[in-house]
Amino acid sequence: MPSVDLLPYLNSLREQIDAHLTQETLFTDDCPKTLSESVQYSLLAPGKRVRPCLVLMSCEACGGEIADALPAASALEMVHSYSLIHDDLPAMDDDDLRRGRPTNHVQFGESTAILAGDGLLTRAFEVLANSSLPAEVIVACIRDLASAAGVEGMVGGQQADLEAEQTAAASVDALEAIHRRKTGRLLTAALTMGARIAHCDPQMLRNLKVYGESVGLAFQIADDLLDVTGDVQKMGKEVQKDAEHHKSTYPSLLGVDESRMRAESLIQQACAAVEPLGERNHYLQALARYIIDRDH
Ligand code: IPE
Ligand code: IPE
Ligand code: MG
Ligand code: MG
Ligand code: MG
Repeated sequence: MPSVDLLPYLNSLREQIDAHLTQETLFTDDCPKTLSESVQYSLLAPGKRVRPCLVLMSCEACGGEIADALPAASALEMVHSYSLIHDDLPAMDDDDLRRGRPTNHVQFGESTAILAGDGLLTRAFEVLANSSLPAEVIVACIRDLASAAGVEGMVGGQQADLEAEQTAAASVDALEAIHRRKTGRLLTAALTMGARIAHCDPQMLRNLKVYGESVGLAFQIADDLLDVTGDVQKMGKEVQKDAEHHKSTYPSLLGVDESRMRAESLIQQACAAVEPLGERNHYLQALARYIIDRDH
């Protein structure tokens, strides 16, 4: 494993992402004040920004400019934040803590939380469409993001996740299919959008996609593990919730140790996929490791 100083690098990316997100959520008076507050409350809360960082890292690893990738990074974080607001609703996971704060519906009420999610999803595509990238790159990014977020991607995975609460323990294959959609697809879109913005060659785009799929699945396995072993203060969200909801998770199906081993082998696959990038893979490899070693 290369020794790169990942955390200062991530912090410098996060600063640029946060500045861009702030700028992209300054709404006119046509957006009711409560709605803009609700959108900003969740979006600008202290998230890890893993997905937008990956957009920038993928672009940079392929020789592109970070500034060109910021609109796609912000768009992806907007879709992710919307998914969290809706995921926390009483009709879904019914959570009251997110990013160390009361969840959006606790703070603003359910109707505003639903509309804030709708607004973030829509704004994401407006930000992408307004970017100064070549039109064909914008269209390709919109296609990646829409497909990853939609009924065959994150939304489909969320539906399957909720349906699995009602049935007995799913098979590992069924669980993997849920995790790949509800979390893996958006994470993979980070890699492909970043690569497209840098006009990366088709072979490297495929390699980055494999990295995204492996890291995406490992990310949700780590999330399932942290629900069992994590600390509420560090996580900024409630723990031990999956068992309460009878969720199908990796630790519930395979146990903690086997789940860790699966995550570890996915990280190795991810690192191997970006090996051809040479030295430019170092941050991506370090981030893959961070994703399963994290404590929040
Ligand atoms: C939480 O995502 C939801 C999952 C898909 C597991 P993150 O762990 O990236 O949450 P934030 O963005 O840091 O709050
Ligand atoms: C959420 O998975 C995936 C999303 C699409 C938001 P979880 O329900 O496990 O995420 P947390 O644990 O609430 O962050
Ligand atoms: Mg959920
Ligand atoms: Mg949840
Ligand atoms: Mg979880």
